[in-house]
Amino acid sequence: MFGARPSPLCMGIPKTQVGEIAERGERTVPDPLATRAVHAGEEKHKPYGALTTPVVQTSTFTFADGAEIAQFMRRKAEGESTNRYEYGRYGNPTEQAAECKMAALEGGEQALLFASGMAAISTTLLALLSSGDHLVVTSDCYHRSREFARSFLTRWGIAVTLAPIDQPQALAAACTPRTRAIFAETPTNPYLRVVDLERVAAIAATRGIATIVDSTFATPVNLRPLEHGIDLVIHSASKYLGGHNDLLAGVVVGARQALTPIAHARGVLGGTSSPHDAYLLLRGLKTLTVRVARQNENGWRVAQYLEGHPAVRRVWYPGLASHPDHAVAQRQMCGFGGVVSFEIAGGFDETSRFIDRLQLPYIGPTLGGVESIVQQPAALFSLRVEDRQAAGLKDNLVRYALGIEDADDLIADLQQALCGVCA
Ligand SMILES: Cc1ncc(COP(=O)(O)O)c(C=O)c1O
Repeated sequence: MFGARPSPLCMGIPKTQVGEIAERGERTVPDPLATRAVHAGEEKHKPYGALTTPVVQTSTFTFADGAEIAQFMRRKAEGESTNRYEYGRYGNPTEQAAECKMAALEGGEQALLFASGMAAISTTLLALLSSGDHLVVTSDCYHRSREFARSFLTRWGIAVTLAPIDQPQALAAACTPRTRAIFAETPTNPYLRVVDLERVAAIAATRGIATIVDSTFATPVNLRPLEHGIDLVIHSASKYLGGHNDLLAGVVVGARQALTPIAHARGVLGGTSSPHDAYLLLRGLKTLTVRVARQNENGWRVAQYLEGHPAVRRVWYPGLASHPDHAVAQRQMCGFGGVVSFEIAGGFDETSRFIDRLQLPYIGPTLGGVESIVQQPAALFSLRVEDRQAAGLKDNLVRYALGIEDADDLIADLQQALCGVCA
């Protein structure tokens, strides 16, 4: 819909053979991505000869005199690049370096950094949609994205339809002449369902609809949605991109033309990131390919181990042939990720006790960092059984977001904790 894509930055990244990955239980990181993760977006020669990009911790940027202001205002009025910063809500050098690195990793022309993934999602949708428009959201997506669409956008006269992710006909049928955007997420949480992006892009292209994909669980290492014809990629950078559970940020990547109204909306709504978080994100991104390669390997090893275990009823991992979207994942992704969900042979209480017996992972609601984190989605969602059932969250489901620990140690820990389920 927005034209001017894909960016030349994304060309030449060889697609990894996912079939081979499955057999070896490990993945090969495309080398250009690893190099971009370290170098892209940052000047070689930085202030003071520093090796790392400085944290420009300032709220504003000053002018020398009235003549400089006049020149700045004239350039802005004529739509020219001003080559300078003005006020922190509109941009900052540290944030811009992180944005350029993310654009290079996703293969987009430009990226915009936000205070959180939700700030990125809400600002993007508000920028693109107006009263009277219609939005299609794939039903299996982060519950706050769904909530924003259904409880907030609808208040401003934007109609919203939820469509199942695995039925392209239903997605096409949900589109109306007023549909302006399709918002999808892949892989999803917690069942790791995989959306066929080329089918989504094809449905949208014939109707002039913008496509937005939340690719938080995949990272650009495992999936680059722009290569599959998607217009905008969104991440909660608080997860794998930051990678150390020490920052909140969000990012949107796409063609410059598509991002212009979103950049303007960010300046108005104020969901800007902070220079310090941008610095942490830049640092985290340098090791992204190495971390995700290890997390893919851990995911694969743990999923295989669990699938054969008598105390486990079912494993949800897109790398396994038993996953309903395995074929799409094989075709579309370069690696299957570090999150494995599985159902314990037992109910709510047995599952809670199993999690309590695990010794390595932390218990908590996030994912994507170097430390493994486990949770029982039902327990964190609601105290009411009806709510959990309505959300499709099984009481015996465990979501295990693997960190970068040694796979043998993670499996040994699972083994001892699962013994208690069988006993
Ligand atoms: C898939 C996905 N998208 C978006 C978000 C929101 O990101 P943030 O917490 O950075 O606002 C989350 C958070 O858990 C998520 O899992």
